[in-house]
Amino acid sequence: MYLGNEKFEALKGRERIVVLGIESSCDETAAAVYDGRTLLSDIVASQIDIHARFGGVVPEIASRNHTLALPGIIDRALHTAGVKQDEVDAVAVTYGAGLIGALLVGVSSAKAYAYARDLPLVGVNHIEAHIAANYLEHDLKPPFMALVASGGHTSVIEVAGYNQYKLIGSTADDAIGEAFDKVARLIGLPYPGGASVDRLAKSGRDCIPLVKHKKNITDGLISYSGLKTAVVNYVHTARQRGEEIDVPDLCASFTHAAVDPLAAFVTAEAARRGFETVVLAGGVASNSYLRATMAERGKAAGLRVLFPSPALCTDNAAMVAVRGYLAAREGYGLAGLDLNAVSNLRVPS
Ligand code: KG4
Ligand code: ZN
Repeated sequence: MYLGNEKFEALKGRERIVVLGIESSCDETAAAVYDGRTLLSDIVASQIDIHARFGGVVPEIASRNHTLALPGIIDRALHTAGVKQDEVDAVAVTYGAGLIGALLVGVSSAKAYAYARDLPLVGVNHIEAHIAANYLEHDLKPPFMALVASGGHTSVIEVAGYNQYKLIGSTADDAIGEAFDKVARLIGLPYPGGASVDRLAKSGRDCIPLVKHKKNITDGLISYSGLKTAVVNYVHTARQRGEEIDVPDLCASFTHAAVDPLAAFVTAEAARRGFETVVLAGGVASNSYLRATMAERGKAAGLRVLFPSPALCTDNAAMVAVRGYLAAREGYGLAGLDLNAVSNLRVPS
């Protein structure tokens, strides 16, 4: 059963659509309101402090905390936006990919909200939402190529239209953010360690040979498992020999080994496929070395390279509201009460 079917039809082609976005796929509980022109509110309650003591996200604890936080976060998003309940035109929610229990909290809440007010419900793919964050800050129109680099994904995607996404390549194993977090944990940095590795790398040198760069990427598949093992072996060997590890040098060497082949792959693919613009998205898109390297390589290749400001790189609901708006404007993504969470939701290839 679809919700607000007729109302959804009426939204097609409209420039102003007030969308309530809801995000709960991992450890951020978030709600935001976007009207097609302005981001009216963007509320994020992070659970990082709760999970840090376990060294990573504990799925069941994440779900419980989403349940506790989400109603208040939705109220705050509407209140901050100055939008009354009956002014909302559609509800957009991340239904995958992510932690199944965590996703279900957002999906159930969005369904309840849409059902109670007979509003259209739009199911949003988290990866596509990350990309959509770029529309908020840049004058951007498809076609373009996107690199989504986060804790769960390293995906290179062709964006042919506002609602047309095609996977070009992705990780064969671990995601880049996962590798950052594992390296951080290995050297005793708190979860999530990506940003700490980034900070430490700035004062280090890329002088530790970890893995031969070219072997990271084959046929469009990107692998971070080998690189992670190389760091583990390096650290264990050094510890066994009683040698001190230069943490900034290790962070810099790992960052370069993780970023250089990826940036080379993305720029080469973009040039080969004739794209003029490449956008970065996802938590790792806030990495300073990735941003600098992509900007530099993009410039050399004559590409326009864009990335969101750091707060819009990590998980948020603003990107979900924007993705929902773009879908509703073109009549895509209407979901029913049977919308389910899909933990391994992908972008079609
Ligand atoms: O997009 P995101 O918030 O969640 C997922 O969809 O996975 O990304 C979180 C990931 C974490 O692995 C975190 O360590 C990483 O992004 N991250 C960074 C930086 N800031 C966040 N990794 C490298 N450098 C950063 N500055
Ligand atoms: Zn994410």
